[in-house]
Amino acid sequence: MYVLELAGEDDAFAAREAASSCSGVSELAPGLVSARSVSQIESLALTRRASVLIGHTTATVADARSLLEQASIDRTGTVAVRARDVRGTSEVDTQRIERALGRVLTRRGFAVDLDAPDHELRALFSADTCALGWLTARSVRNFGDRMPTKRPFFQPGSMDPLLARALVNIAGARPGVRILDPMCGTGGILVEAGLVGADVIGLDVQPKMVHGADKNLNRYLDTGSDSDTETGSGDILRGNATRLPFRDGEIDAIVFDAPYGRQSKIVSSEDEGNANENGLPSLVSASLDEARRVASRTVLVADRQWDEVAEATGWTIEGSFERRVHKSLTRYILVLE
Ligand SMILES: C[S@@+](CC[C@H](N)C(=O)[O-])C[C@H]1O[C@@H](n2cnc3c(N)ncnc32)[C@H](O)[C@@H]1O
Repeated sequence: MYVLELAGEDDAFAAREAASSCSGVSELAPGLVSARSVSQIESLALTRRASVLIGHTTATVADARSLLEQASIDRTGTVAVRARDVRGTSEVDTQRIERALGRVLTRRGFAVDLDAPDHELRALFSADTCALGWLTARSVRNFGDRMPTKRPFFQPGSMDPLLARALVNIAGARPGVRILDPMCGTGGILVEAGLVGADVIGLDVQPKMVHGADKNLNRYLDTGSDSDTETGSGDILRGNATRLPFRDGEIDAIVFDAPYGRQSKIVSSEDEGNANENGLPSLVSASLDEARRVASRTVLVADRQWDEVAEATGWTIEGSFERRVHKSLTRYILVLE
């Protein structure tokens, strides 16, 4: 078993992302989940670390110490203990825990090396639970390099890379998987999918978005055929999400961020070229219809609920999440099968 340290405040959403590459993900305590098996931790946005679970107990130093004293430890080399007050809810003194657990390990014959230990013991304290585990993997936290304002092409309303990464992971992005964003805007979703190795295709009705997304993909993905890096291939086309230029079932998963009534251009199926908010329901409905024709999974993001439209177009809602961005924007996420 493993213990995963989640990022952010929304455990249900983070656990859903973790379940895209780990099996048996189940809530352990606020900010922590357990998993039966783990893989691709380095690609996850909302999991920071995974550790081989030694066990869990109540959140007291005495119980943590006796859990470690009784644990079988099949390891050699140097160790360091790192304690964390997960979400600041446990009121423990992390330095005291590190010293107490460090003493247990030195009594068991381990040398301590705080700078470059062979093994890092994670002591994770939340309000009622303490989980102990040996660190085995961390996610790569370089999302800041790809913040929308740092990309070659920027537009207001671009999605941040952390959310985009979580969405593409939930959609199943990985090498050999074809991901389509039929309303790609600046291409942020596609960049994250490409970076985890998926082959990505983007569509947008606006030529400036097509050119801009193409620039962004070129900056972050090695889209040349002779490239030997691990990013997937990338293609951006001008097109309409309601009339996708793909055969039935040709795409593995679709991820898209529907226009926000207030700021994005909306081009509905009947009224191409005419931007207006009234076209939004028909645009989302026609796009979900097309999505179902070409793919068996869609992750839809929007600034409002589209549950009824999703079900009316034949999709089953497999997950539903809300993420508050600021006081006038909440993003609604639907995972559709
Ligand atoms: C909310 S934005 C996408 C933002 C994008 N996720 C990003 O991070 O930049 C919606 C996009 O849908 C595009 N759009 C609107 N109607 C469309 C249609 N019928 N087909 C394809 N794209 C459309 C708009 O041009 C806009 O770029």
